[in-house]
Amino acid sequence: MFARSALRSLNQSRQFSSSAARQTKVAVLGAGGGIGQPLSLLLKIDPLVSSLSLYDIRGAPGVAADVSHVDTNSEVRGYPADKLDEALEGVKVVVIPAGVPRKPGMTRDDLFNTNASIVRDLAAAVARVSPEAHVLVISNPVNSTVPIVSAVLEKAGVYDPRRVFGITTLDVVRAARFLGGLTGSDPKDTRVTVVGGHSGATIVPLLSQTENGKSITGEAYEKLVHRIQFGGDEVVKAKDGAGSATLSMAYAGATFTHKLLRGLNGEKGVITPTFVKSPLFADQGIDFFSSNVELGPNGVEKIHPLGQLSASEEKLLAACLPDLKKNIEKGKAFVA
Ligand code: NAI
Repeated sequence: MFARSALRSLNQSRQFSSSAARQTKVAVLGAGGGIGQPLSLLLKIDPLVSSLSLYDIRGAPGVAADVSHVDTNSEVRGYPADKLDEALEGVKVVVIPAGVPRKPGMTRDDLFNTNASIVRDLAAAVARVSPEAHVLVISNPVNSTVPIVSAVLEKAGVYDPRRVFGITTLDVVRAARFLGGLTGSDPKDTRVTVVGGHSGATIVPLLSQTENGKSITGEAYEKLVHRIQFGGDEVVKAKDGAGSATLSMAYAGATFTHKLLRGLNGEKGVITPTFVKSPLFADQGIDFFSSNVELGPNGVEKIHPLGQLSASEEKLLAACLPDLKKNIEKGKAFVA
């Protein structure tokens, strides 16, 4: 049932894990949801996860009982609504897919009113119980929820910008898949760096930096960029009111989590785009940005610059920055 690439990368990691000593306790907050359930399953079969702590205001003990029967070594425990603090005890990595998803016609920003307070309260619990945990934010709008988590941790005096990540991996996954489909190449050989933020025009794919991507020009280029930026809408429309991407997002979330665990375990050269506190555009008042980030034992090890951009990409970037700035400011204002 899993994508071949998911199995391939997990098999590779099984081989890697035989030489990696350290394993990690991971919590999923929102584990009962559309993303949370398949994400929990994928984390159960990740050999770098030793213990899985599943929390939701609804249904987490059931998901935990189900997932715990999968024949891998990790322990799984589920926690009901009133056991958030217990769920976070001893946790090294916290993945947050809690919150409402989009319905047709909604932007990610339309989710702000509901999800901002959910994420704020969960971040406060992290600050209280597991202040040294790495926090991986899936809940939308990511451009605002990451600044919210950061500000809550900062207020609590436990903020380390190397440990807070917005998961933008689904944009990277989509870009590889869509470009692969266009050029007839295997997506695994079609890595695309996607920078900026995670919504519409703030998603900036750097196709010129990919061998296959350079060949796409004119109308085909415009269409491909649009599809990468608005691919989420295809899913929202097809689900017709039943939510947004869950399965591909769970895959993307598990992929990013696995990369972080590899970095935390000391593997060198683990580089992927993610939305983090970043100096790249801080002089323009934009202090969170997604670009290639090297992950290491402390989380963010090195933030890579964007590299050479084409004229079209410069335009995309110019369109991204003002929107991104507004989204970040909205998140900060919510906590202030
Ligand atoms: P869903 O509605 O199926 O699941 C959300 C879960 O969160 C529910 O089980 C709900 O009970 C739980 N929840 C609500 N408040 C909570 C709280 N205070 N503590 C713990 N759990 C709580 O939604 P779905 O489809 O799983 O999406 C979740 C979020 O992920 C949405 O905000 C969505 O927009 C976002 N998302 C992000 C993507 C990305 O690329 N970063 C891609 C797709 C969705």
